[in-house]
Amino acid sequence: MYINLKKLKKEVSSRLDGCDDSFNGLMHFLKIKLKLDTRKLHMNENISVNDYELHEIESFFKLKEDNIPNDYIIGTSSFFGREFSVDNRVLIPRPETELIVNYFIEENISGSKVILDAGTGSGCLGISLAHLDNDFDIFISDKFSDPLNVAVKNVQKHKCQNITPIQMSWGSAVRECSVDYIVSNPPYIRERDPHLGNLKCEPITALVAKNNGLSDINLICKDAYSILKDGGKIILEHGYDQADEVKEVFFYNLLKPEKTIVDYQGHTRISIATK
Ligand SMILES: C[S@@+](CC[C@H](N)C(=O)[O-])C[C@H]1O[C@@H](n2cnc3c(N)ncnc32)[C@H](O)[C@@H]1O
Repeated sequence: MYINLKKLKKEVSSRLDGCDDSFNGLMHFLKIKLKLDTRKLHMNENISVNDYELHEIESFFKLKEDNIPNDYIIGTSSFFGREFSVDNRVLIPRPETELIVNYFIEENISGSKVILDAGTGSGCLGISLAHLDNDFDIFISDKFSDPLNVAVKNVQKHKCQNITPIQMSWGSAVRECSVDYIVSNPPYIRERDPHLGNLKCEPITALVAKNNGLSDINLICKDAYSILKDGGKIILEHGYDQADEVKEVFFYNLLKPEKTIVDYQGHTRISIATK
């Protein structure tokens, strides 16, 4: 049996509404999971496939018909140039979170800094920071053991020596005045936000926060005031329309708003404050 680009496009078009995301996912699946030479497909050549490969391709279509995201099907997600293992225990890393890693590069932050990645999920943020400087002393934390187990797997995969995983809620188990930087992409989606309809596969505990999406942000900022050293900073991701509310939360917790960062669509998505 053989496959070619025309056949695959036809199949994606008839079974998956022909959407680009599905087609790109299929190409990635063939390359990463089945190790097929997709360059041949792009050169309009036929590729012969065995029964096992055909069965796997059929499974891909069935999972896509159930609206499973490409990254969960393939089992990896790209973040800041690295591949992270992901499954439905963790949020699929998003490009806007990479802006936090960029901030560390642009600000030339280096040396023996204590950094807490609070709500680490797959570990993508803490692990990317760990690779910027071996002298960083990084703690990655999550309230839940499921995501933390995925993060630990990724710590091993990326051979990070400077990361300590901790299971805890936000900064609850951290010594007062001991942290230089807190980075966090917490749950911030409002409970009845219509966007949740498109995010059914990802863990609800990674997405939704009470109090108009702000309950976890409130808790982190409260902990931040206690665990940050004087002059330490919190670098927080939030919803595209939450920057003003986050600023108020900073003020309420005696943190001084310092800077905001906009995403690729021009929305303010990261807010930074100093203790
Ligand atoms: C939006 S996800 C972010 C994951 C990862 N940092 C990323 O950017 O891809 C939020 C994470 O916070 C964790 N979380 C939820 N409530 C928490 C709490 N009270 N304390 C610590 N982590 C929590 C979730 O389990 C989830 O892994």
